[in-house]
Amino acid sequence: MSNARISPTTADDLAAANLLYRDPGLHDHLQGAATRDADVVHHAIDTWAPHAASLLDAGCGTGTLVAALSDRLTGLGIDLQPQLITHARAAHPGCDFEVDELCTLDLRCTFDVITCLGNVLAYLHEPDELHAATAAMSRHAHPGTIVVINTLITPPPEVPASTSLVATPRGPAQVTVQNRWDDDTRLATMTRRWAFTDGRTETDIVHRRVHDLNALTTALASNGFQVRAAFDTLPTTRNPPRGPSAFVIAQRPQR
Ligand SMILES: C[S@@+](CC[C@H](N)C(=O)[O-])C[C@H]1O[C@@H](n2cnc3c(N)ncnc32)[C@H](O)[C@@H]1O
Repeated sequence: MSNARISPTTADDLAAANLLYRDPGLHDHLQGAATRDADVVHHAIDTWAPHAASLLDAGCGTGTLVAALSDRLTGLGIDLQPQLITHARAAHPGCDFEVDELCTLDLRCTFDVITCLGNVLAYLHEPDELHAATAAMSRHAHPGTIVVINTLITPPPEVPASTSLVATPRGPAQVTVQNRWDDDTRLATMTRRWAFTDGRTETDIVHRRVHDLNALTTALASNGFQVRAAFDTLPTTRNPPRGPSAFVIAQRPQR
């Protein structure tokens, strides 16, 4: 169930901008298992919510995290892009997936763990959307619920375009990547050109917002969460995190 949509980014925008969203099989081939993210979620559960049993994965993509955690948590993954949900359902038939939008999500139930990993929040380009997303997390939280977020917090370095050879199911592809940063909009733009051996080319133009860490923790606090930790990677040696992306773990306090 959803309220009126406020996000200007549509599923069609996302798919048009990124070959990996148009070809979920290629996405899984290149991204592999969600091991690092699953390790962080296990760490958060062990530390703050040892009895957790249910999971909402917001922006689940192809569903790899829900599947990776399915031994421990009964999970629901939601994502804006229908073709990713179709792929997730086929790849992980024991798990639940639905097409839905994070900011307006209203499932009328709560979860012990809410994850929002892999830069989902970076696709929310308007400052108001950070508040809307954390309010949606709040609607699906009860006392003790933990939220685990990973998103960009510093601009990617502006380095010259780089090209590498990438193995794909259709043979090797030459992939050229260039990043640009716009300080006014706080949007990092990645231009990525794929050149396949059969002569086919594809160009991605992916805009991701770099959220200020303080803005994120403020939005979480104003929606009733207490920030428990913020770090770059496990083990949590660097505090505060330096980026480019950071994990933030927050919790709705026990009453
Ligand atoms: C980089 S992918 C990460 C997917 C997955 N969480 C992972 O780590 O593999 C970002 C995902 O966020 C989804 N997304 C972006 N904006 C969204 C929104 N407003 N509501 C729901 N999903 C959204 C995209 O469709 C995409 O699947």
